[in-house]
Amino acid sequence: MSAGKIIDGRAIAAELRGRVAAEVAALESGRGLVPGLAVVLVGVDPASQIYVRNKKRETRAAGMNSIVHARPASTSQAALLSLVGRLNGDSEVHGILVQLPLPPHIDAHRVVDAIDPAKDVDGLHPVNIGRLAAGRDAEAVAPCTPLGCLMLLRHSLGDLTGRHALVLGRSNLVGKPMAQLLLRENCTVTIAHSRSQDLPGLCRRADILVAAVGRPGLVRGDWIKPGATVVDVGISRVPAPTQDKPDATRLAGDVAFDEALKVADAITPVPGGVGPMTIACLLANTLNAASRQAGLPDMIRI
Ligand code: GUN
Repeated sequence: MSAGKIIDGRAIAAELRGRVAAEVAALESGRGLVPGLAVVLVGVDPASQIYVRNKKRETRAAGMNSIVHARPASTSQAALLSLVGRLNGDSEVHGILVQLPLPPHIDAHRVVDAIDPAKDVDGLHPVNIGRLAAGRDAEAVAPCTPLGCLMLLRHSLGDLTGRHALVLGRSNLVGKPMAQLLLRENCTVTIAHSRSQDLPGLCRRADILVAAVGRPGLVRGDWIKPGATVVDVGISRVPAPTQDKPDATRLAGDVAFDEALKVADAITPVPGGVGPMTIACLLANTLNAASRQAGLPDMIRI
């Protein structure tokens, strides 16, 4: 069997960031408008610190303003809600992202609910979830990771109409909005999860398989329909000991990559697949949010 194609998320994300940067430059020269993204980080979770640093770097590289509000883990819920309220009212802030997870004494739902839906570039506010589900695309903001997956699928397949898509995982951040986006593309959509019966059989019927469960290597090569397109959202650190480095680790997706590559038509690698698309889509959401707030159409079609 011939090997499938590896979908180059880094290259596709770089292309999207380039388009965003060009539109940002045009918005600034034409209207004097510079989109601004405020990121709120509470506590010192090392992974969150890295994500926030990367978001800041990429936002600035695209020509937008990046404002990071780092607060200690002891920050009260009231203080956080007050900060979100201030950002909602700040006309130079067009997008707000509160990095999750939040410390346990803070109710994340209360905080997300406090964000102005027009500035919710994470697409997590219930109003944006409802707009996405209702097909109100002109007002909806969709979460960045499933948007990135959709762009990779369109890049690889073109029109997705009529294809059977299986979404493995039902999280609010990825699985559920992914299913809505695929439905919008006229796919026949199945959502499977840890309680689904016969996961291998469900996967084998899918022309498009999006795996987002965070269980490294769960999806085996013989679960995949020959010729399918596979998008692997999972990113877990697993042991990869060598003789020299017995404690070495590597990043692994939800799909057994080498096996899947032999069966699928195309597959995203981990790392270098979905990951780079997430930040690129955050930039696109921020640019579109700034455009909408200025009464302009979306600059980037998603
Ligand atoms: N933490 C991990 N992923 C995300 C994300 O997409 N948005 C936010 N706000 N926090 C996260």
